[in-house]
Amino acid sequence: PTVDLSNNVVTATLPTGESAQVHLFGATVTSWKTSDGKERLFLSTAADLTGKKPIRGGVPIVFPVFGPPPKDHETSQLPQHGFARNNTWEFMGKSSSESTDSKSDDSVKLDFGLSSSMLPEDTKNKWPYEFGLVYSVTLSKSTLKVQLQVQNKGEKPFDFQCLFHTYFTVNDISQTTVSGLEGTQYIDKVQKAQTFTEKHDALPIEGETDRVYTTPALPPIVVKEGGKETLVITRDSLPDVTVWNGWVDKIAGMGDFEPKDGWKRYLCIEPGFVSSWTKLEAGEAWEGSTVAEAKL
Ligand code: BG6
Repeated sequence: PTVDLSNNVVTATLPTGESAQVHLFGATVTSWKTSDGKERLFLSTAADLTGKKPIRGGVPIVFPVFGPPPKDHETSQLPQHGFARNNTWEFMGKSSSESTDSKSDDSVKLDFGLSSSMLPEDTKNKWPYEFGLVYSVTLSKSTLKVQLQVQNKGEKPFDFQCLFHTYFTVNDISQTTVSGLEGTQYIDKVQKAQTFTEKHDALPIEGETDRVYTTPALPPIVVKEGGKETLVITRDSLPDVTVWNGWVDKIAGMGDFEPKDGWKRYLCIEPGFVSSWTKLEAGEAWEGSTVAEAKL
């Protein structure tokens, strides 16, 4: 595998043609291509890549709070989705495995770090905890794995939420369904945050969708297009999954989302731990990960 860092973007390529790109800003994965050349992540053509605002598309990291921070919480002064997606991370290096008999098992892991000492004073004051994040992105044949380790490096406990805000590309949202959620509970943000139980075996996306599913049994989430499996998403220690598509009007109102009909060609499936707070004691670490497998 080859790994190149230039202009604050890390690009990894496998001998069989798969590739991934990660911007140090937010450690945001902005591209994941499979060997057939197909781009599996959606990135807005108007995404700001200059470090002024979170990157619209790819896999922004949500930490330490999901959504607008609650008023009566330690995160209340932080921006929506926290600060991990809008600060610059460091590239900590790569490790790769190369198979001897066949090239097909090659993989490469890229590690990124963000710690309290790297944050601007202003952000540190808003959330005064000492932490270390290690984010690992592993590219293998047909899969992309992302893993976050959260370390409490201070002397007091803190509460956090985290989530991988993954924008997948789909050919046509009207032909796309999501399976694996049947029988699980979700909060529907489009319907006044009421709680429902999912009835669909294969959930169609037919309008603005913004739901947080809680799935303690961690079922695989399967995306189908025209009835054919295109993605299988598995998870470790991430019991929640947000399913989000802004549809016509929400996307029309987002200045950094282009093209405007892009709502037809993306679906966010966001594994995370956001329905409650995870408490991390001084000196402790927590780890969560998810693997997306593209069906070729
Ligand atoms: C989703 C939320 O995770 O992110 C949505 O559930 C939100 O409510 C969307 O609109 C995009 O958020 P942002 O902050 O990147 O515009």
